[in-house]
Amino acid sequence: MVNFLSLQRFERKEIDYLLQQAAFMENNLYNLKERYNSKILAAAFFEPSTRTKLSFFAAAQRLGFSTLDYLPEFSSQKKGESIEDTIKILSGYCDVLVVRHPKNNFFSDISCDCTLINAGDGTNEHPTQAIIDLYTIKKAFSKIDGLNFLIVGDLKNGRTVHSLLFALANYDVYVNLFCPKGLSPDKSFLDKLSNDFLKRISFTSKMDLSNIDVLYVTRVQYERFKGKKPKNIENSYVLTPELLSKAKKELKILHPLPRLKELPQKIDSTPYAHYFQQARNGVPVRMAILDYCLKK
Ligand code: NCD
Repeated sequence: MVNFLSLQRFERKEIDYLLQQAAFMENNLYNLKERYNSKILAAAFFEPSTRTKLSFFAAAQRLGFSTLDYLPEFSSQKKGESIEDTIKILSGYCDVLVVRHPKNNFFSDISCDCTLINAGDGTNEHPTQAIIDLYTIKKAFSKIDGLNFLIVGDLKNGRTVHSLLFALANYDVYVNLFCPKGLSPDKSFLDKLSNDFLKRISFTSKMDLSNIDVLYVTRVQYERFKGKKPKNIENSYVLTPELLSKAKKELKILHPLPRLKELPQKIDSTPYAHYFQQARNGVPVRMAILDYCLKK
């Protein structure tokens, strides 16, 4: 049994194994109901979620798990129970506990009696989303090595980008980063990336799609801003038909969703749009992650 908390030190062979297992899960979506039918998965989300929580439930139920949904606003948290006690108690009721929490590095202070999965810790990481991203890319291109990425948006607060970069560091890829002023990744995050990978990352001041295979778009994480919230920051990187007119025909656009104005709905009907497939891939990928955690 292992936890799934970060991709920072995750090795390529483990990611490749998960991608291969996710393909197996996708091909056997309806045949695996017996695999974990004595197990229970609980979700404790202290921040809103649509895709992550429900696709974890769907993944778990496809594998035969029963599921428990802890809702903080209707719990003893309202009576002042500490988060440490809550996690401890929940871990006695399930075999796998999936947690989303607004605090960065939340899991470093947590003790738990069952398998723990990070479903997003503040602005830090969202490791299961990054495996979904890689699975989506691998399915579309049949490879990851050799691809050219442009990652745009809130690279400071967007946890999906952080986990994605940790994962991509294992592959022979080139990464261009474009972000509005003030939303560059923190130095403390960049310091965690190897020098070898940093040499393959460049910051660009122009959204040029002409040589890009994967465009990974993210929203501005307005809820992370302290004090007066700025507005419409994403106007500086809205994906327009003009920008897309330079794209290669193989370009795939990914977005962890939810989206704001940066990704207009009219892109949905273009062959580049890949974000709904990406969201759907959440189920087989999370099945593979649950299986990996429990088997190991
Ligand atoms: C992301 C998250 O929660 O970090 N959502 C998701 O899980 N797909 C991205 C976001 O909220 O912008």
